Amino acid sequence: MYIVTLLEELGMAGLENANATPSAPSASARQGWSSSLGFVLAAAGSAIGLGNLWGLTYRVALGGGTAFLVLYLVAVVVLGFPLLLAELALGRHTRRSPMLATVAVGGPAWQPLGWLFPLSSALILGYYAVITGWVGRALLAVLQGHVPTDQASADAFFLTLSGGWAEAVAYGLVLVLTAAVVATGVQQGIERLSRWSMPTLLVLLIGLVLWSASLAEAPARYEEVLLQWRWSDWLDPRILRQAFSQAFFSLGLGSGAMVAYASHLESRDPLPRQAAIITALDTAVGLLAVFIVVPLMSAGAVGHHGGAGAVGTLFVAIPLGFASLGSAGPLLMAAFFFLASIAAVTSAVSLLEVPVAVVMDRLGWGRAVTTWSTVAVVALLGLPALLSTDLLMASHDLFGGVVLIGSGLLLSLLMGWVAPQQLSEDLCQLPSPLLRVLLLTLRWLAPLLLGGVLALSCVEIVQPKISFWL
Ligand code: PFF
Repeated sequence: MYIVTLLEELGMAGLENANATPSAPSASARQGWSSSLGFVLAAAGSAIGLGNLWGLTYRVALGGGTAFLVLYLVAVVVLGFPLLLAELALGRHTRRSPMLATVAVGGPAWQPLGWLFPLSSALILGYYAVITGWVGRALLAVLQGHVPTDQASADAFFLTLSGGWAEAVAYGLVLVLTAAVVATGVQQGIERLSRWSMPTLLVLLIGLVLWSASLAEAPARYEEVLLQWRWSDWLDPRILRQAFSQAFFSLGLGSGAMVAYASHLESRDPLPRQAAIITALDTAVGLLAVFIVVPLMSAGAVGHHGGAGAVGTLFVAIPLGFASLGSAGPLLMAAFFFLASIAAVTSAVSLLEVPVAVVMDRLGWGRAVTTWSTVAVVALLGLPALLSTDLLMASHDLFGGVVLIGSGLLLSLLMGWVAPQQLSEDLCQLPSPLLRVLLLTLRWLAPLLLGGVLALSCVEIVQPKISFWL
């Protein structure tokens, strides 16, 4: 009943306000970031998440090889950075929540894109919180001295993490923690969390990389995994699709999170520089995570799924890798899962901020009541992923893949074709040749590439089902 009323009201309210000038006061008084650094840390916190530590390492270690890594970096530069800049410009220009921002620059025809943002964020948060709960439980297990020592105990370790009542409790706690941060506000909650958590994460990460790279087998493992050159990889549509989807998910594009965060920016903030720093930090963390994980995994460990399924592979392979290090293993494993918890919570916070900002902006509700009501809806949306790892993976493919890419495609069309004027005004610090390249990218390159990736993603999702029925 609550959900129906909420959806009805969201459909009706606030639109009349959306075309107002950006400086007009919106339904909710907008609190800003305390500084440019505060914003950059919060946005980096949104981008840096389990996708960097889990998605990228998984794909590289699974045998994506050099082609995957190079295509991923190309995707970050060619697609990620321009779209991030466009999302930041949209948020800051309109000073509206993601749903009203699209209508403010494109008119009512763009409302469906506005809807996609809170919907996809809430649905992604549903399954993201499940995995975050596993990470938290893995941390707790290591601190209590439970470290798996062989393949069978590692498989059992993951099955314990991902099942039973404790899994549901961890899921609930993750959502409560996330909501507590969002309810406390942009500056006092989100920015304050990012100010200590991002530096902590970077220090832990660099420490773990130095240690991992110093292992005797590291050079050989790097060579074996990262310099895996096969000509056929470059023409493999799956690798191309995965590299582009990974870059997109990793930067948190297409979800409206960056629009929501940028809507609290001042007009004097240097967007291109901020976008470049966020992109660089996110990519660096992904690559550093790869350098930590690769030497830890014996050849074939990642391909072994046991009872864990693809999503759980790293929860099996990483603990096993740490366990093989003897007495230092548990401490290093605790550091790894602690940094993964930080990364996951700051990303979850940004995912929740999207629907919260939308509801506040459209209905004029207070932040606390909006946050707790929204997180209750999210908790229900995540139940299928909590109950089944297969459904969790399907949700990731659909919402974290297809839907995000689809939103990104629409966003590039909106900013490239419908609102290029606003974009140019907002990015006036950018030298004009660069601005022209950005516009050309948003108009032609991004839609073409994203259209291709979207088609490939749909084929990959549908194909196994068709072959199953045939
Ligand atoms: N970028 C995050 C990760 O790599 O785990 C996931 C994410 C965060 C996706 C925020 C979307 C988003 F809005």
